Amino acid sequence: MINLTVFVSGRGSNLKALYNFFDKKSNAPKIKFVVSDNPDCQAIDFAKSKKTDVFFISKKATSGKVSWSEAIRLLKKENIDLVILAGFLKKLPDEFVKAFENKIINIHPALLPSFGGKGMYGINVHKTVYESSAKVSGATVHFVNENYDEGKIIAQRCVDISDVKSPEEIADRVLKIEHELLPYVVSKFAEGKIKIENSRVIIE
Ligand code: GRF
Repeated sequence: MINLTVFVSGRGSNLKALYNFFDKKSNAPKIKFVVSDNPDCQAIDFAKSKKTDVFFISKKATSGKVSWSEAIRLLKKENIDLVILAGFLKKLPDEFVKAFENKIINIHPALLPSFGGKGMYGINVHKTVYESSAKVSGATVHFVNENYDEGKIIAQRCVDISDVKSPEEIADRVLKIEHELLPYVVSKFAEGKIKIENSRVIIE
């Protein structure tokens, strides 16, 4: 069993997908902590309903507040094997990224390396994809490095968007595949089946 920490900022549908996927499976990865920069988000309500420990990297928090260095210490002490960014909007400081090299993954709602970078989150991504007139979009899970959306790509899934009439329609189609892709990658990581060879990420 491996230990996970999931970072969230909003709705938390990917967090829910992870819980649902691993629920009642034997030897499943354990979500030990959920961390947020937004104490009032739906994702935090959901984590609390699952009795998962939550803490906050936020000035707004009235309890459970930690600094980035405290978060590093806590996650190391509790033997966290994988950090998952599931809709976390704050940029991770370099010290955090260095402390968990190749142990932080992010899910992005488009096919990287296109449609990523600063400001490319939420509906902004889908608007840009829509306006480009791209005919496919998709989801990407990648390792996190010091730059937004630039770490090595682990896995991607595509979806046909040739007939969509709005960015919201793209968002709906992409979200469905995100909910399959993220648990898939986490389960492969848990089985030790994700390797980096000759500068490519391989899933065995
Ligand atoms: C998802 O589209 C994810 O790809 C992106 O932010 C969104 C988070 O959605 N990074 P949710 O909070 O998991 O519902």
